[in-house]
Amino acid sequence: MYLGFDLGTSGLRALLVDGDGAVIGSAEAAFDVSHPRPGWSEQDPAHWIAACDKAMAALKAAHPAELAALRGIGLSGHMHGATLLDAAGAVLRPCILWNDTRAHVEAAALDAAPGVRELSGNIVFPGFTAPKLAWVRTQEPEIFDKVAKVLLPKDYLRYWLTGELIGDMSDCAGTSWLDVGARDWSDRLLEAGGMRRDQMPGLVEGSAPSGQLRAQLCADWGIEGTVTVAGGGGDNAVAACGVGCFREGDGFVSLGTSGVLLAAKDSYAPAPETAVHTFCHAVPDTWYQMGVILAATDCLNWLSRNLGRSPAELSAMVGNTAAGPSSTLFLPYLSGERTPHNDSAIRGAFIGLDIASEPADLAQAVMEGVAFALRDSLEALKSTGTDLSRVLAIGGGMQSAFWVDMLANVLNLPLDMPDKGEFGAALGAARLGMAADTGGDLAAIMTRPAVARTVEPRPGLTAQYDESYERYRALYPALSSDVSRR
Ligand code: XUL
Repeated sequence: MYLGFDLGTSGLRALLVDGDGAVIGSAEAAFDVSHPRPGWSEQDPAHWIAACDKAMAALKAAHPAELAALRGIGLSGHMHGATLLDAAGAVLRPCILWNDTRAHVEAAALDAAPGVRELSGNIVFPGFTAPKLAWVRTQEPEIFDKVAKVLLPKDYLRYWLTGELIGDMSDCAGTSWLDVGARDWSDRLLEAGGMRRDQMPGLVEGSAPSGQLRAQLCADWGIEGTVTVAGGGGDNAVAACGVGCFREGDGFVSLGTSGVLLAAKDSYAPAPETAVHTFCHAVPDTWYQMGVILAATDCLNWLSRNLGRSPAELSAMVGNTAAGPSSTLFLPYLSGERTPHNDSAIRGAFIGLDIASEPADLAQAVMEGVAFALRDSLEALKSTGTDLSRVLAIGGGMQSAFWVDMLANVLNLPLDMPDKGEFGAALGAARLGMAADTGGDLAAIMTRPAVARTVEPRPGLTAQYDESYERYRALYPALSSDVSRR
């Protein structure tokens, strides 16, 4: 038996699978994000542990015999969060999360420092870990002085599970302290960020063992033998493991809270100037590139809150099939943007509102705006030489048949829709647990899901969306407050 923990922004999910990867059961526990000031986003690491305890109690109650036979655990986590520990391993302050933009000034300064983009392979985005520590250094010096270790969120969970202070390559690639090509901490990057190597956790590959589950937890959960905990990875890398996406040419598009277009790479080919992210994959000798948009389903949720109609209701209003672009355009920059703009100050807009515009028109424009933002990511990936001829479509937003159909036409790519079932980060995590325990062939463990149907773009329609996309592209420079972008 293998267990995958998916530490998400709004909760933790535990998934139990058997040795063939078939699902035995799952349990979830939610927690909150606090926003003490505009642009701040924090979480108390103790809530992650409480959620894990709760989910495991539920899993043990439902599947005691299967849980007793547990052999391996894998971890997936939201990336970039700064969990600060003192020399005794105590948490020094709430974790500063991936979607916290307070460190934008520090990020710009680090990004401009010589060699930083070259070694880290990426722009230093405000949400990444290094600028957060630069912020703590100046704003909370009494805390900064006590920092003995910086852990990413799922690595704090590992610390509780195993007692080990370890990170994995894929998650640590999002800190701006890792030499992403060499898969090792970079003394130069650490120095640029005012940090030291001894403040970093040890590094393992995502599919390699990182430690053993503590005896006390084995006893609490009724587990009979020893349990290997795998390195695991950042949520997108682990979700890629869940859908068997780790060879050159494999890719997925995800409509979650944020939106992602990801392509697996068998070599390290960074292109920070495009605002594409290049990170280590959760399996050895492999990398991935992705465009990230900060608000995807979050945009529809925002509209839903403001119109007082559920996202499902809004989806139903637009029907099931794309029939050509709306004359209203929406810029989905409700939380700023990463790819391709790297602009934490830009905000969203509706353009072309009409006296006759109704909720259905706004919903269509919002969904199209998100699709156009992902098209920006596709163009950014293409500009680096990455060629995707089809992609898997995953994430909650794909429940809308309209969104999927329209996205296929906006991206001009066939979208493969996985059959119902488990294929997310929790499954990817369980698979990494299996790989770490058995040392088995990764291709045999990380299989692709069965495809229920493929949504093909339609030539006449793609041409119409192309035209609308060109209008969309012209809007960002006009709205940016940064004159150099106009
Ligand atoms: C990736 C990123 C998000 C978070 C939260 O760079 O910021 O995917 O990991 O999901």
